[in-house]
Amino acid sequence: MTTDSDAIGQITTIERFILEQQSSHPEATGVLTNLLYDLALAGKIIASRITRAGLVEILGSTGEENVQGEEVQKLDQFADRTIYRLNDHTGRLAVMASEEHADVIPIPDRFSTGKYVLLFDPLDGSSNIDYNVSVGTVFSIYHRKTQDGPGTLEDCLQVGRDLVAAGYIVYGSSTMLVYSTGHGAHGFTLDPSVGEFLLSHPNIRIPETPLYYSANQGYQQYWSEGVRRYTGWLQGHDGLRKGLSLRYVGSLVADFHRNLLSGGVFYYPADTKDPEQPHGKLRLLYEAIPLAFVAEQAGGYASDGRQAILDVQPTSLHQRSPLFVGNRDLVEKAESFIREHG
Ligand code: AHG
Ligand code: MN
Ligand code: MN
Repeated sequence: MTTDSDAIGQITTIERFILEQQSSHPEATGVLTNLLYDLALAGKIIASRITRAGLVEILGSTGEENVQGEEVQKLDQFADRTIYRLNDHTGRLAVMASEEHADVIPIPDRFSTGKYVLLFDPLDGSSNIDYNVSVGTVFSIYHRKTQDGPGTLEDCLQVGRDLVAAGYIVYGSSTMLVYSTGHGAHGFTLDPSVGEFLLSHPNIRIPETPLYYSANQGYQQYWSEGVRRYTGWLQGHDGLRKGLSLRYVGSLVADFHRNLLSGGVFYYPADTKDPEQPHGKLRLLYEAIPLAFVAEQAGGYASDGRQAILDVQPTSLHQRSPLFVGNRDLVEKAESFIREHG
C-alpha cells in the first residue's frame, strides 16, 4: 500500500486510483468504477466550458425558473444536461435526481437500467458564475432499493449512512475532484494539458487546528439565539479560544473545500428570513448529505444542528436542511449551543 508521500511522488490518474480501490473489493463488477469515471469526465467537460464561460456566450440566465424558485443560469442547464447525457444510456443507473428537476429523472425506456442511483447538484454556487467566483458539482451514489424495473422516488430518498460513494468537483483556480467510497476521502487535481485528474490529496484528513468559520453573517438577524451565541464563540468573544477568521464566498463547494483542507466550520443554519423555508437554503439530498459523507470520511462531522446529517431520513426530493459541517469539535459545539439556547 503506498504511503501518502509515496502517492504524491508518483503520478496516479484517477482512473488507476479507482481501479486500485476496486481491486480491494473482489465482489466489484466495475460498474461503480465506470460510473465514477464518467463523473470525472463530466467534470472535465463542465470545467472546459466554465473556464471559457465569459467567451462562449454561456454566461447569464436562461430566463427560466427551477423547482427551487431560482433563476436557471445557462451553465446550470449545461452542467445538468452533461451529467444526464453521460449517464442515461449506460445501463448502470436505475434512476437519477437533480437539484434542477422537480421529479426523479427516469432512464429512457430504450435503455436498460442498472443497480445504482445518482443524485446531483449539477452546478453549485451558480449565482457566482457571472463574477468569476469558484463553483462546483456535487454527487451522491446509492444502490437502488427496489428490486427491478424503473427506479422510483423511494430509491432516491435514502439515508446518507447507506451511500455507496459521494463527492464533488470544485471549479476554482484549478479543477479538483474529491470523492469517497467509504474508504477515506481522496482529492485529484485536473491537469488540463493532458486532461487527466491526478492524485494530489490522498487520504484527506481535516486538520485538528481550525483556521476559518464560514457563514453568511448578513443574515445573522434571522438566526436563533443559539446560533448567534455560537458565532460569538467562534470569534473568541468568551476568551476561551482564539477567534477564527471568517471566509465565505457563497459557493458551498468552495467554502466546504477550503475548510476541509484548512480546518474550520461551514454553517448555513435554519433562519427566519423566508417563512416558506424555515430550514435554511441548502438541500439535504444534493448538498448536505454528500458533503457530510466526505467530511466524516476525512475525520470531520456534519449536523443539522441537532443530529448527524447522515442519520437524517429524507422525506422529499428537495427538502432543505440546516447544515453545520467541518471539524467535529466545532460542529458538536454548535449542537450544544442550539441545545442550550435554541
Ligand atoms: P446553488 O447554486 O446550487 O443553488 O447553491 C447555492 C448555495 C450554496 O452554494 C451556497 O452556500 C449558498 O447558496 C449561498 O447562499 P447565500 O447567498 O444565501 O449565502
Ligand atoms: Mn448548490
Ligand atoms: Mn445548483
